[in-house]
Amino acid sequence: MDLRRLENAKAILSKYHQEHLLNQYDRLDETGKKALLDEIENIDFDLINSLYNSTKKETKHNKDEITPIEYLDKFKLNEKYKYYENIGKKAIKEGKLAAVTMAGGQGTRLGHNGPKGTYDIGLDSHKSLFELLSDNLKEEGKKYDVTIPWFIMTSKENNKATVEFFEKHKFFGYQKDKNIFFFMQGELPMIDTEGKILIGENGLIKLAADGHGGIYESLVKNGMTKKMKQMGIEWAFIGGVDNCLVKMVDPILMGIAIDKKVTVACKSVVKANPHEKVGVFCKRNGKPNVIEYSEITEDMAEATDENGELLYGESHILCNLFSVDAIERMGANPLPYHVAFKKAKYIDKDGNLVVPDSPNAYKFEAFLFDAFGSVDEMAVLRVKREEEFAPVKNSDAAGVDCPKTARNLYKKFYNLD
Ligand code: UTP
Repeated sequence: MDLRRLENAKAILSKYHQEHLLNQYDRLDETGKKALLDEIENIDFDLINSLYNSTKKETKHNKDEITPIEYLDKFKLNEKYKYYENIGKKAIKEGKLAAVTMAGGQGTRLGHNGPKGTYDIGLDSHKSLFELLSDNLKEEGKKYDVTIPWFIMTSKENNKATVEFFEKHKFFGYQKDKNIFFFMQGELPMIDTEGKILIGENGLIKLAADGHGGIYESLVKNGMTKKMKQMGIEWAFIGGVDNCLVKMVDPILMGIAIDKKVTVACKSVVKANPHEKVGVFCKRNGKPNVIEYSEITEDMAEATDENGELLYGESHILCNLFSVDAIERMGANPLPYHVAFKKAKYIDKDGNLVVPDSPNAYKFEAFLFDAFGSVDEMAVLRVKREEEFAPVKNSDAAGVDCPKTARNLYKKFYNLD
C-alpha cells in the first residue's frame, strides 16, 4: 500500500479534525483501503465545514419579494390547444424529446427494500413503478412513431440493483446504451451533530445522494447532455420515479415551451386545499421559483384572484421540461444545499454498528427547483391531478401518498376496476 497516500490522508484529516475516518482502515482489504483514501482525497472538506455551519443558522428568506406566477390551464386553452399540440407533436415526431427519470432517492419513507422504482404498488399485473413508467413511454412513442429515449438517474447506493432489475426484465424492450441510459448522481458525506463525518457499514465514508437538484450536474458530468445532442434531442422531460401517473410525453407542454420560447416548462396541479403541505410555483424577486409551504404565510396561502383561484395554488409535482441547453447551463452552476436531519446507521469509534431509532445525522440535498431562478421566464401548465399525479411517498400506514392511494388513482385513470 502506498504509505505516502496514507500519510497525506492523515494530514488532510488532521487539518479538518476528521481523524476518526481512518479508524476502520486497518480492517479494510486492499480494495477498501484504496477506496477510502480515494474518498478522503476527493471530499471537499471546506464545503462540509460550511454545510455543518449552515445547520446552526436558520435560513430566512424574509427579505425576498414573493409574487404570484402566471400559469396556463391545460383545459382552458380553447383554440390554442390544437395550436400548441401541433407544434409539440411535430417536435416529438422529429425525435427531439427524451425522458429523464430521477431514481436516485433513498425512498426512506416508503421503506421498500430496494430501489423505489422496483416497487410493486399492488396492481393485479404486479408491475413495478419502472414498468408502469416504461409502459407509458412506449405507448406514447408509438403514437408518434418514435422510441422516446430514456435516461435514468440512479445513485451509487442503488445503481447496481437498478441495472440488474432492468436486465432481469430485458430493459422492458429498450436497448441499453442505445435508447436507455443509466447514470449516477453525486453524493455528499453525512455528518453527526458535532460535524464529524460518519463511517458507513462498509468502513468507508457514509455518503448519501445529493438530492434531486443533482440532476443537472450529473447529466452533464456523465456525458448525457452531450449524448442527447448527438441524438438530435433538444428537450428533456425530467420527472420522479414515484409518480405512477406521470405523463412524460406531452405535446401541449412541448408546444407551449417552443411557442413561448422558454427553456423550462413545468406542470402543476392545483392545491387540494389552501393549507396543503406542498411547494407552489411563484416568483421570487422577479424570477420563477417554488416556495415551500413552511415559508408561506396564512394570508398568502388563502389569497385568491378575481376569479376565486388561489394566487399561490400551483403545486410543483416534479414534472418539468427543459431544453438541453438550459440543463447544460444549470449543470455548470452549483445549487445551494438544504439540510435534512435523518436516521443513519454508522460505525462508532469502537468499531460497533449503531442503528439509531431517531434522527442522528445531517444529510445535504440540492433541490431541482432552485435552478428555476436562473431563467427569466418559464411556463407553468396546470394539469388535472387525477390524470397526472399519483405519488408513492409513504407506506400504507400513513394513508396519504402511499401505494394504496396511488394504486386507486392508477386504476381509476386506466379504468381497471
Ligand atoms: P423525494 O424527495 O420524495 O425522496 O424524491 P425519496 O428519496 O424518493 O424518498 P424519501 O424522502 O427518502 O422518503 C422525489 C424524486 O426525486 C428522486 C427520487 O428518486 C424521486 O423520484 N431523487 C431524490 C433522486 O433521484 N435523488 C435524490 O438524491 C433525491
